[in-house]
Formats: sequence, C-alpha cells, structure tokens
Amino acid sequence: MKLKRIILLLLTVMFSFSYGEVFAKDGNSLKKALKNKFLIGVSVNTRQSSGKDVAAVEVVKKNFNSIVAENCMKSSVIHPKENKYNFTQADEFVSFGESNQMAIIGHCLIWHSQLAPWFCVDKNGNNVSPEVLKKRMKDHITTIVKRYKGRIKGWDVVNEAIEDNGAYRKTKFYEILGEEYIPLAFQYAHEADPNAELYYNDYSMAQPGRREAVVKMVNDLKRRGIRIDAVGMQGHIGMDYPKISEFEKSMLAFAGTGVKIMITELDLTVIPSPNPNVGAEVSASFEYKKEMNPYPDGLPEEVSKAWTERMNDFFRLFLKHHNLITRVTLWGVADQNSWRNDWPMRGRTDYPLLFDRNYQPKPVVDLIIKEAEKNKISF
Ligand code: G3I
Repeated sequence: MKLKRIILLLLTVMFSFSYGEVFAKDGNSLKKALKNKFLIGVSVNTRQSSGKDVAAVEVVKKNFNSIVAENCMKSSVIHPKENKYNFTQADEFVSFGESNQMAIIGHCLIWHSQLAPWFCVDKNGNNVSPEVLKKRMKDHITTIVKRYKGRIKGWDVVNEAIEDNGAYRKTKFYEILGEEYIPLAFQYAHEADPNAELYYNDYSMAQPGRREAVVKMVNDLKRRGIRIDAVGMQGHIGMDYPKISEFEKSMLAFAGTGVKIMITELDLTVIPSPNPNVGAEVSASFEYKKEMNPYPDGLPEEVSKAWTERMNDFFRLFLKHHNLITRVTLWGVADQNSWRNDWPMRGRTDYPLLFDRNYQPKPVVDLIIKEAEKNKISF
C-alpha cells in the first residue's frame, strides 16, 4: 500500500515536472522544446539584426537558436558594383547571431533574383563570356565566404535553380555557363571555407519534377566529390498546397541521397492566391483588389483554427522525421514582417508566421512545444 502511494507520488512529480515545463508561461520556448530535435531558426531583417525592432529581437532571442539573413547578403545589396562591396548590414547580422550564440546561416551566394545588375553583363548590357562569369562568381563567393569564415555555419550556395517541371531555370548563369554553374559555385564556396556547410535551396519542392531534378543534381555533385551537406526545402506553403504526403515524399527522396534536410523559409499563407503558380516566384505581381484581401482586421475563428491545425500538421511531420532534419527556419519573426503581405499583390494582410502582430505566440506554438515534449512524458 505504502509502496503504491510512493510510486504514485513519484509519477505525479515526474508528470507535473514535464508538463510544468511545457506550460510554464515564461519558461516556454520553441528552442528549449526542440533542442534535441533540430535547430529552430528565423529570418531577420535589418531592423531586427541592428536591434531597432526591440520587440522582435526579444522574440528571436527567446525562441530561436539560428538566424538567416532575409535580404542583406543577396548580391544586389552586398555587392552592388563589381568593385564595391557593402558589408555594413551583413556584418551587423553576423554580430547579432554571435552575440546571441546562434547558428548563423548565409543566404544566398548565387541567385538570379535580387542579382546585382552588373554581375552577368558587360558595359553594353551583353552577356559576358563563360570565363568572365566564372571569374566574377569566384571573386564574389570567395570574398564573402572568406570574410565570415568560421562564423557562418552554412551557406545557401545556389538558390532556386530548377523549375516546377524539373528543367533548369533559364537564368543568366545558366545561359552563359549551362548546368556547370552549380558545381562551380559549390566548389568556390568550399575552397573559401572548407568547414562551412553548403546547401541547395528551392521552393515548391513537393513538385515531382523538381524533386527528381534536385535528387539528380545532388547525386551528380556527390559523385564528383563536391561538398553538399543539405537540401533546403523552402516552406512557402498554403492551406491547400502542397499535399503533406508529397512534401514527405520529397523529404525522403532528398534524404535518400545522403544529405540532410532543412525546412527553410517556412510560412503558411491564409489569404487567396491570384497566382495559379503558387510557389514563391518573386517576379509575380498583381494589381491590388479588395476582395483578395479578405481579413484586414483579423482572422475569423474557424480560419484561424484551420491555420493552426495545418501548421501543426507540418511540425508533426518534421518531428516525425527529426533524425533527417537539421533545421527548421521560419521566414520572418511576426506576421507584419512577412513578405507575404506584399506578394504577389502589395498591401494585403496575411497571417503566415508563428507570432502575431503584437509579437505574441500563436496557439500553435504551445502545440508544437507539447508535441516536441511528448516523449518526455510517455513513461
Ligand atoms: O531595400 C529597399 C528599400 O530601400 C526600399 O525603400 C523598399 C521599397 O519597396 O524596397 C526595399 O527592398 C525590398 C527588399 O525586400 C527589402 O525590404 C525589395 O523591394 C523587395 O523586393 C524585397 O523582397 C524580398 C524578396 O525576397 C526579393 O527577392 C523579401 O523581403 C524577401 O523575404 C524575399 O525572400 C525570398 C528568399 O530570399 C528566396 N526565396 C523566396 C523568398 C520570398 O520571396
């Protein structure tokens, strides 16, 4: 009888300890709960990495253990002219991550968008020769990667090079160098910082065509002995796309090549898309229409509930495969920071992130924490 009571007491103490950790309001945080699963990251803008957006900085410090630069490392910002680099914002971003002991991710070395206008053309606007472009790519990658050597955990080396149907995107890099620009970029990055991790990052990764093409690309790099550590699956998702089963299929296909998976750029839009092609094609643009902005003053209860469930379902998938995943990164801190409010139609009100416009955690944050803590209380 006595023994039974002692066991009961012990179980109660263990149970309340674990649950206490989950629900204790102030002790709660995503990074604590997910500590043994994967890094939990967030993209920061320059108002955040410079410390100006104080409320956002608090959220970042408390909940995230990894950051990625939303814009300040893109070529048009960091390398606006051939002989001019602008490191001010990127330096600030890296210092912010270091002073908060975060895993710092560089985004992105080679991307056709936000590309510095001089990069691929001569003074007359004509494409440069393959040799000139190789030299420019090498200078760009070497200068940036070496500057932050040992301080950046990993780089998105090439961003968004494949189309939905699996074809190579017809960028200037592709026009001038063909497929070879990808292995070259990885090689230059590895030479500049042999210890940095190197990633390929793209959106709509659940599309079968892109899935196959990325698997082939990764296998080709590996066969040639070129370093690639992970595939970044951008998580720009909607309420009815992609199918979770297709997303999972892609996770398993990429992991099957021997690299790790990163869920990068996660945000779940809840407003209608005027765009039949739902990925994250930055160039898509539509004129503002009031009826395409249905929730300017807040989400109706049932929409909010559906959003919570879907976001939670994705996190359940990530937790299920946590042994394949090294990082999950949100694309923005709080809803008002999200690019989704202006794409592909400016001036709308979207609700895609884990923290609301008052920097408060949404209900899904508690659900994610609970899910991550589950095995601790399954005695
Ligand atoms: O810096 C200028 C500022 O000087 C000017 O006053 C302002 C006026 O609009 O524009 C500012 O630049 C904007 C920049 O974000 C910084 O806010 C650009 O117009 C705007 O196009 C740019 O958008 C970014 C977009 O990439 C452009 O490529 C988004 O913030 C950023 O979230 C988004 O991120 C991309 C990833 O890098 C790659 N995957 C897709 C993802 C979403 O598009």
